[in-house]
Order: sequence, then structure tokens, then C-alpha cells
Amino acid sequence: MESLRRLSFVSCIALLAYFAFLASAEHHVRQFVIAPRPVTRLCRTHQSITVNGQFPGPTLEVRNGDSVAITVINRARYNISIHWHGLRQMRNPWADGPEYITQCPIRPGQSYTYKFTIEDQEGTLWWHAHSRWLRATVYGALIIYPRLGSPYPFSMPKRDIPILLGEWWDRNPMDVLRQAQFTGAAANVSDAYTINGQPGDLYRCSRAGTMRFPIFPGETVQLRVINAGMNQELFFSVANHQLTVVETDSAYTKPFTTNVIMLGPGQTTNVLITANQRPGRYYMAARAYNSANAPFDNTTTTAILQYVNAPTRRGRGRGRGQMAPVFPVLPGFNDTATATAFTNRLRYWKRAPVPQQIDENLFFTVGLGLINCANPNSPRCQGPNGTRFAASINNMSFVLPRRNSVMQAYYQGMPGIFTTDFPPVPPVQFDYTGNVSRALWQPIKGTKAYKLKYRANVQIVLQDTSIVTPENHPMHLHGYQFYVVGSGFGNFNPRTDPARFNLFDPPERNTIGTPPGGWVAIRFVADNPGAWFMHCHIDSHLGWGLAMVFLVENGRGRLQSVQAPPLDLPRC
Ligand code: C2O
Repeated sequence: MESLRRLSFVSCIALLAYFAFLASAEHHVRQFVIAPRPVTRLCRTHQSITVNGQFPGPTLEVRNGDSVAITVINRARYNISIHWHGLRQMRNPWADGPEYITQCPIRPGQSYTYKFTIEDQEGTLWWHAHSRWLRATVYGALIIYPRLGSPYPFSMPKRDIPILLGEWWDRNPMDVLRQAQFTGAAANVSDAYTINGQPGDLYRCSRAGTMRFPIFPGETVQLRVINAGMNQELFFSVANHQLTVVETDSAYTKPFTTNVIMLGPGQTTNVLITANQRPGRYYMAARAYNSANAPFDNTTTTAILQYVNAPTRRGRGRGRGQMAPVFPVLPGFNDTATATAFTNRLRYWKRAPVPQQIDENLFFTVGLGLINCANPNSPRCQGPNGTRFAASINNMSFVLPRRNSVMQAYYQGMPGIFTTDFPPVPPVQFDYTGNVSRALWQPIKGTKAYKLKYRANVQIVLQDTSIVTPENHPMHLHGYQFYVVGSGFGNFNPRTDPARFNLFDPPERNTIGTPPGGWVAIRFVADNPGAWFMHCHIDSHLGWGLAMVFLVENGRGRLQSVQAPPLDLPRC
């Protein structure tokens, strides 16, 4: 009798705990109105496409376990879709967002509600337009706090500052893209980098808008640094202050300190910074890490970390007021050694559940290419030597479908949109990072996916090629977080390199750069059914075809299968 009473008491407590748990998950209902809005930068005003009139767009703050419904209303003159970069979207590709991959774009005047749940994820992610070059101005931070009462694996400062690094064109970015698509040449490089939308002190007409971050002496804050730039890897540093890295791409790391971090487009890095220097003003700055033999924007964006007790200068007129901020030391533009050393220090915060046995062993060459023209003097062939730029994975240059999205075509069984014969290895073997014969520079265009069985253990070696130029390609996989188990320069050696893989605590990410003229190996379990885009997060390369699609099959039963599509899913 007594034990029975105790049992019912225990189950009562368990039930109460369960309800408390349910009650703690919040449901967020938001509206994102996409519309042009005048934005003035570098002395000129442009009608920028914005979300709710904000540039950068609104920060989305949620908790692990929360659900979200965001209605995107398109009041711009362009088709658009929004991607929640790094969110896993379990069995829910319909909310992922890349146009013509998981949905048709939202047409002007139409709307679509992205409905999703945050499942076992916390940290810094971001959202951005996934439609041509609209993400140049349509982006914002997505911050996932742990569940109520769930601790951080490090001592979490009280204050948190999102730092969104972006790229600004003194033109309509869509016109920059249109011009590049017409000529076949590389797109114009940006005119400025920005921190939270502001170029900062070193650019014309920008001083007044420079971002200032007050800090109390002795205080520690967390910077959530996001590279939302279009085409450029960036170094980031704060004058005189050490950065303690605690998280990358919404996965905790073993903390370590550094003077500089490097982020490819798409990547996020959380760092702690302590105001332990002389009271004063210190620049935080970002500028290019450029690994390619190609033109780039070599300007520097800055913001100011400002001690609240910073001394001011006495006197009158010019020179009165605040002292000039201290400038950080940044690595050289082509400092691959520093970029690589930083990336190689990253470790998962604890032992990682890395797949040890591999079912799918994929080898992908990634890089640029050139399409030969019948008439090299054509205005449409202004790439190197009268060609058009291209890019490919395993020699396949990805072309977005137009009549339907890959996921809708797959779900509806509609043929003719894509094929599933994406090659698991390059069609020909060659010295990928050597002097590549011109006969191998021209890729084939197509819309091909690679099928994966539900729960397959997948390894992909991403091998950069030296075709046109070796380069760091920040490769992003939708729908997954993967472990970065190894990397190196030159050609991957399948006999010797796997022996040096880190299968214990490799960093978990959603975007990883190939070392220029090198390779990087990733592993993941294909436990999320659906069509998932994998592509270079440099938008010019994406437009040239540096992409492919994984089609992950359903497992058994409802809980291992793609959900039914929402009724308002846009049609092509
Ligand atoms: Cu952040 Cu497919 O992109």
C-alpha cells in the first residue's frame, strides 16, 4: 500500500515536470515584410530590400525547444525565399528555404509561413534570403538560447552582442548580379564591408554611423560574430583584446584564446572578450582573407569598443572629446597560415558522437571552371580569354530547376526536374592541385542529386582544385551539422590521411572551408530525410554552379519520414 502511494506520488511529480517542460517551450509568431526602403551608405541612398524596414534585419531570439511561425510577406519586386541557416529542420525541408531546392520562390504580392521547431540546437545562427543576391541586404541574426535552466558549458557573460559582418555595394546588388550573369565575367567586388550594417570610420560619409559598443571595465561580454558577407572570407580582431572562442556554427568548442578569428561566409563564431585593458576606445575590425588569385574588396570595416570610463581629451574645437581608438593588428590578406592555424585549433567541447564506420565514402572535387564560347568576342563571354566563368562539384555545374523545386518534384513524383545520378567520385582522376590540363577546365551543366539511405554514415572529402585558381571554398550543407574530421594541403591521400583523422573531438559545423589547394573531410549521419542543398557559400560561386543536392530517403514510419508539405507552400 505504502509503495503504491509512493509510486503514484513519483509519477505525479514526473507528470508535473513534464508539463513544466512543455509550458517552458514558447511559440513565436512573427511577420517578415520584405520591401524596399531607402538606406544611405557611402554618401549615397539606395532602395535596399529589407525585412520590416530594418537593415540588417530583425534578430530572432528563441530557446531550444521553441516553435516558430514566421509569415514572409513579399512586397518587393523580386521573387524571394528565406533560409534559416544552420537550423536542422528535422523532417521539415519545407521550411528550409533555398529557392527551387525545397520550395518555389514567394512571388511579389504573395506570402508564405515558415513553421518549424528548434530541436536540440543552441547557439548563434542566422537567417538570410536564399534567392539570387537578395541576401546582400536581407539577413539577420538567429540566436538560440538553451532551454530554461539548462546550463552553458562555460561561464556565460550577462551581455551578448551580435556582430553581423556584411558586404555593401554602392549599387543595387541585383544589378551587380545581372551584369555578371550577362557578361560571364566575375561580379564587381563590394564597395565596403559592414559591422551591423555600418561600414565604419575608414569609409567616406560613414563616421557618424560607426557602431559603438560601450563596455564596463572588468566586464566580460560575448560577441556572436556572423559572416553574412556575400563573397569574402574575413579576419576579425579587436585591438589589444584577446578573444576566447567558445562556439562555432551553434556548436560549443573547447575554449581557447586567440588575437584573430577567420570566418567564411555562412560561418558563425562566439567569442568572449574581457575589458581588462587601459580604459579607452578600441577598434574591432574585419577585412578580407583572400586565398584566390582574383580581385577582392581590400577595405576594412570597423566598430568601436568603448570603455564607459574612457578618458576624453580636453580643449576646444577639433581634437576635443574622445581619443582616437587603438587599431588592431590584422593578418595579411593572403595569410593562409593564420587562417589555417585558427581553424585547426577548433575542437568539439566534449567527446563527439562521430560515425566510426562509413557507409557512403564520397570524394568531391570542388572548384572553378571556364565555359568555352563559340564566339569568344561575344559580349556574353567576357571571362578569361573569351570564356564564361563556371564552378562545379565532380565536374557537375549545378543548374537550378525552374518548373518546380527539387523537393516538391521528389515528393510529388514529378519527373524531368532533376536526376539522381550525381557522381560520388570525380569522372576522371587527375592531379587536382597541380597544373591541370586545359581539357579538364570545362564542367558539364545539370541538375543532379545524390541519394542517401536513411541513417547512412556519410563521409565526404571535399578536394579543392587548382582549376583557374586554388581557393578556400566555404562549403555549407543544409539540414545537417557535420564533424570536420581532417584537412590538409595538396591532394587527399586515401591510404595515409584517414589515419590522422580526429574521430574523438572534431569540431561540429554547418559550413567549412576547403583549404586553398587542399582538402577537408566531414562526417555525418543521414538522419534527416528530404532534399538538402550543399553549396559553396560564396554567392558568385553558387551562381556559377558550385552546388549539388542530397536526397535523403525516408526511414520507416512517420517519425522517420518527411512531413506533409504545408498548404501555403508556394507553387512555381
Ligand atoms: Cu546560408 Cu544555402 O545557405
